[in-house]
Formats: sequence, structure tokens, C-alpha cells
Amino acid sequence: MSSERVERFKNADVKFGVIGLGYVGLPLAVEAARSGIRVLGFDVKESVAAGINGGSSHIQDLTDAEIGEQVQAGLLEATTDMARLAECDGISICVPTPLSKTRDPDVSFIFAATEAVTRALRPGQLVVLESTTYPGTTREVVQPGLEKSGLRVGEDFFLCFSPERVDPGNKVWVTRNTPKVIGGVTRACGEAGVALYSRFFDVLVPVSSTEAAELTKILENTFRAVNIGLVNEIALIADRLNVDVWEVIDAAATKPFGFMKFTPGPGLGGHCIPVDPHYLSWKMRTLNYKTRFIDVASEINSAMPEFVTGKVWEALNRAGKPVKGARILILGVAYKPNIDDVRESPALDIIRLLEGDGARVLFHDPFVPRLEEEGSVWIGEELTDELLSSVDVAVIVTDHGNVDHARVFERAPIVVDSRNATRGLVDPAGSRPQGGWIVKGPQA
Ligand SMILES: NC(=O)c1ccc[n+]([C@@H]2O[C@H](COP(=O)([O-])OP(=O)(O)OC[C@H]3O[C@@H](n4cnc5c(N)ncnc54)[C@H](O)[C@@H]3O)[C@@H](O)[C@H]2O)c1
Repeated sequence: MSSERVERFKNADVKFGVIGLGYVGLPLAVEAARSGIRVLGFDVKESVAAGINGGSSHIQDLTDAEIGEQVQAGLLEATTDMARLAECDGISICVPTPLSKTRDPDVSFIFAATEAVTRALRPGQLVVLESTTYPGTTREVVQPGLEKSGLRVGEDFFLCFSPERVDPGNKVWVTRNTPKVIGGVTRACGEAGVALYSRFFDVLVPVSSTEAAELTKILENTFRAVNIGLVNEIALIADRLNVDVWEVIDAAATKPFGFMKFTPGPGLGGHCIPVDPHYLSWKMRTLNYKTRFIDVASEINSAMPEFVTGKVWEALNRAGKPVKGARILILGVAYKPNIDDVRESPALDIIRLLEGDGARVLFHDPFVPRLEEEGSVWIGEELTDELLSSVDVAVIVTDHGNVDHARVFERAPIVVDSRNATRGLVDPAGSRPQGGWIVKGPQA
């Protein structure tokens, strides 16, 4: 393909399309618009497109003002009309990549987006897949789909994979300053991708293939899943040894080299870490290879909600109370602190387990007023002294910064803390128990 086609992505007046305006796509669209590029966002949900065009944000990391500024400047527009993909010179695909009920990759959203792009594909366009997926997806799924148009990759259009590294709630590492890995199907594809993305990312990290870029993303998330699995196992070990795991981790973290701190908790959540490693496991099963670290980490991490529930049982038992009929307050239902995302949150498992045992479960989360899953709806409670003293157990599942955990510790009769949010607090009725988890209540 001619080098002018690559060059024009560097500074020409190009239009950039973003398919899927969620946690990943919307910040990408806004960042491109900030650099002066005209951006057309695509979503299947009419409400999402209408909200953006009306200057309102449905993503916690972006304010209405940030969206409104770009919309008013004529740089950002959203639509559900996929035929308008033909207007775009560069197109990034940021659609969901969940797991199916059998925990296999569900790439149906990638298929749907690819089909939409194929219908609009014209020579000279650049397509970048951003959705996290197994190595090979870009070349084996997206490329053949796009080539049904009769156009050829590297000759007529460019195709890259560039993994998103969004960390919701992170104020330091945002879209622009987080280094961006990108790999093309051909060398020219990679160059075109770097040319466009250099306009709104500070640091580009080109790699030699789409597979390298795809595996980079899964390595990053598997690294976290495995290390969290390791520290969760240490937590289970410490519990049996009656040692406070958080004390041990803090002590280990004073080592100035060769140790990286990870903390235990109620289990994994979010759209990435509990999901992405399974994309790699699935791919490797097709190559007759078993991903052992991923499998062990997943086993340990997915058992943590049951461990926390077991601690609630244990605490109630010490108080001579059954779980059935107990009033249990869950503090924090988002999957991590200071955000409103409940996808794959371990809080949902803990609530289901406790309700299955006959408990009356209530929740408080300043970021999540209402929780809905598989037809069930829970409405969040206001955190009052009356509420805290009326429950049998308060369980800290997610330690949001704007929740007064000292007050929780003071008022609730029994506290199970899965995040060490009550560190340093001592129950006036007795010394702080060893071993973490059941931090207030009758001792064994
Ligand atoms: N959320 C994160 O923190 C994060 C971080 C890194 C990578 N990722 C990856 O990025 C991808 C997107 O995740 P997300 O969190 O932004 O998802 P999301 O659910 O927040 O947003 C996806 C959007 O795509 C829209 N959509 C679905 N199918 C579509 C289609 N065919 N055409 C147009 N729009 C469509 C949905 O309506 C939704 O608005 C996933 O592969 C995910 O694994 C997510």
C-alpha cells in the first residue's frame, strides 16, 4: 500500500470512528477529539448515543463537561447508524468480550462489529481491534471477516490490534499518558496504526504482530490474576496458622527489591482480570496445552467469596446465632474501591451465598445505589448508626474511600473485613483478634 496512505494518518484531517462507547471506547473517543480529530462514536444502544450527543456521560471517569466540550466543539458525535462507518478513515473496535455460560470466549460482539465494518469498508481505511481477546483473533476472525468485502489487508486496508489499558478510577494513568501497545497484521498496518494513535497517545509501543499485541494484554491480566491468586492462597494459609496475613504482607513489602505487593480480598471482579486469562486457556486447549497457573489461580480466586461467607458463618456461630434469618450488611458491592462497576463483582456471589443460607442481606455502596442481577434487584441502604447497630454482621467487601469504616467498626456488633479497611482499630471490648477477617465480635 502506498506510503501516502500511511502518512495521511499522521496529520491529515481524518475522521476517527469508535465502535462501542463503554468504559474503553468513550475515553478513547474523547481523547482523540481533544487532539482535534473529528470523532464519530458508534453504539448499538440508542440511549448511549443520545446521552453523548446531549453532553452527558455514563462513564464515571468522564464528566458531563468533558463530553459536552467536545460535542459543542463539533469534534464528537455519537450514532447508532453503522452505515456511517464509511465516513471514517480510522475505526477502533471496543466492544465487550465476555465469557459464555460455559466460560468459553464469547466473540459474538467482535463478529457483529466486524460485519458492520465490512459493509462500510473502503480502500485506505484503518481498523484497530481494542477488545481484549485470545491471540489470533485479529488475523483469524476479524481479517477474514473484513476481506469478505473483496478488499485485501495490507493492500487495500490496514488492520491492527491495540489492547486497551483502562484502569477505571485511576487519576494518574489515564488514556493519554498510558503507553499504548500496537501490532499490525502487516508492517504497513502497524505503521498506519502508530501514525494515527500517536496523535492522541503520548507513548506508542509497536510490536511486530497482532498476536504479540494480543498476548501482551493477556500476560498483563494473567500476571495480576496469578499474583492475586498467590496472595489469596497465602491468606488461606495464614488463616489456618492464625497469623494476620495483612501484617505479613506489609512486612514483606518493606523488602526494597524482588517483592511486589498484592493484597488478598473477597475475590476477583471487573470485566478484565476474571475473564481475560480464560480466553488464553481456551485458545491453548485448542492447541492441546493446559494453562496450569491460570487454572490454579482461577480456582483459588473464585473460591474467595465462599471463604468470606464462611467467615460470616463462623462469626455468627461464635455469637450463638444461625445464618438463617440473620441481618447481614454488605459494605461495598463494586468490584474495587471508588468506582461504580459491579461486573463480575465477588459481592454478588457473597450476597447470593448468604441469601441461599436464608440470611436477610442488605447493602450500602456510595457508588452503587441499586444492584440488579439475573432478575433480582437490591436497593442500597443509607449508612446510618441505626442501620449499623440493627444488623447482626457488617461485611466489608469493597473498601471505598468515602465510607467511614471506623464508624462501621464502632457501631456494628460483628465485623468481617475482607480488605483490611479497619486496620489499626481496636474493639473497646477486647483486643483486636489475630488472623484478620473477623475483626470484631465474640472470639473463638
Ligand atoms: N473496562 C475496563 O476496565 C477494560 C480495560 C481494558 C480492556 N477492556 C476490554 O475492552 C473491551 C470493551 O470493554 P468495556 O469495559 O468498554 O465494555 P462496555 O460494556 O463498558 O462497553 C461496550 C459498549 O459496546 C456497545 N456494543 C456492543 N456491541 C456493539 C456493536 N456490535 N456495535 C456497537 N456497539 C456495541 C455496548 O452497547 C456498550 O456500550 C472488552 O474487550 C474489555 O475486555 C476493558
